[in-house]
Amino acid sequence: MKKKILFVCLGNICRSPLAHGIAEKISLENNFSLEVDSAGTSNWHVGEAPCDHSITIATRHDVDISQQQSRTITKKDITHYDYVVAMDKQNKEDMEAFGFKNVHLLGDFAEYNGEDVPDPYFFTGASVLDGFEKVYSMIQLCVKDFIIKGKNGSL
Ligand code: 4NP
Repeated sequence: MKKKILFVCLGNICRSPLAHGIAEKISLENNFSLEVDSAGTSNWHVGEAPCDHSITIATRHDVDISQQQSRTITKKDITHYDYVVAMDKQNKEDMEAFGFKNVHLLGDFAEYNGEDVPDPYFFTGASVLDGFEKVYSMIQLCVKDFIIKGKNGSL
């Protein structure tokens, strides 16, 4: 059976598109049968492509997220997905208020001890791309660990 995973952040233009692209790549490279998507708790950027910095960083890592389009969470998602994963605690709280059950926090995986994935939308200054790189690295490690734990049945 194809397992279905939904990654969620606030705008669905910075963080969850990265998680979505990384999970798709892991799935493809390992012949895993996964259905992956991402969505936002807000509808602020519906229809937009991911933010330029996320596309740039993903491209550096050979992950193409440029064709993704932001969408908002729906009631149908609640029953459709086997796993839902929030980028931060506010996203998790908002998803639970919307009706999602068993929402995982991405920062509970790998070695991040429940940290929020920082929201790079608010990063400013000369080192913005370094910030996105750190966010990418956290998301990549956590998504990998999440998928491994899903595979070995410990989720
Ligand atoms: P994301 O980042 O939740 O990682 O996509 C954000 C994108 C947009 C906004 C906030 C966070 N916004 O305020 O429009």
